[in-house]
Amino acid sequence: AVPKICVIGACNMDLISYAPRLPKLGETLPGTRFQMGFGGKGANQAVMAARLGAQVSLVAKLGQDLFGENTLANLRANGIDTRFIQVTDESFTGVAPIWVDESTGNNAIIVALGANELLSPQDVAAAQEVIEAADVLVCQWECPLETNLAALRLASQAGIRTIFNPAPAREHLPDEAYRLSDIFCPNESETETLTGLPVSTLEQAETAARVLLGRGAARVILTLGERGSLLVTPDQVHHEPAPAVKAVDTTGAGDAFVGSLAYFIARGFSLTAAMARANQIAAISVQSPGTQSSFPSAADLPPELLAAEGG
Ligand code: RIB
Ligand code: NA
Repeated sequence: AVPKICVIGACNMDLISYAPRLPKLGETLPGTRFQMGFGGKGANQAVMAARLGAQVSLVAKLGQDLFGENTLANLRANGIDTRFIQVTDESFTGVAPIWVDESTGNNAIIVALGANELLSPQDVAAAQEVIEAADVLVCQWECPLETNLAALRLASQAGIRTIFNPAPAREHLPDEAYRLSDIFCPNESETETLTGLPVSTLEQAETAARVLLGRGAARVILTLGERGSLLVTPDQVHHEPAPAVKAVDTTGAGDAFVGSLAYFIARGFSLTAAMARANQIAAISVQSPGTQSSFPSAADLPPELLAAEGG
């Protein structure tokens, strides 16, 4: 059966400028190039899962503008079910001005969320059928928390597995969000924000992950950039290193990881096998510029990566 994934999340237009380094406060720094592309953590994760072969429904909100029209066309071109994407005239389609430091591939992002902030629990209720039909539900934190909670509650009542990627993080996240997460999946900086703890070493990462488990998450998978990912559950710790590659643009790498993770979990892979494959796909994404533009499709990947686990 084709794995089914429902994503609740944001769509943004990414406006990416590349420069030899990031600017300082008050500085005007000449850049080297500019690229516009489709982004937003929800859309990115949805596109990643769809490119691997999942049947994906995205629940989202766009503004009545050119960015919104183009976004809808892009999602459809990626084979995503857009029946539960609404267009509002009360705000603009989300935009994300992004700076990329060309020497490291690191970035800084300001996201103006616009219509994404108007995605409501009512919109989630209207999409109940696709949430309940999914193998995995995926949420991030670019849409209102109440909206994510509404979706996570529906999924958990229906016995659907949930992945919550608390990005971008704020300091306070209610325990219910943790309790509704089968997999709670933050990156390093999000983990630091949520726990107030440093995540520089693997030992520190494990300690911080245990704090997140203590708040009610069933399993925690921390994404650790070039160090790969770390799974911590009440009875298992597993570090999955990432392949060493030269990063040109890490924008969206976390989304490539989460979208891939959802896909492999929906196919029934073990968590560690899903993490290993998601690490590899995220490593491919950092080697080319842009967000969705750097995500591979199934046809671009070595067949072993997509073959059945142990097969
Ligand atoms: O995770 C990367 C994404 O974050 C970008 O596509 C940008 O839109 C911001 O939302
Ligand atoms: Na990239």
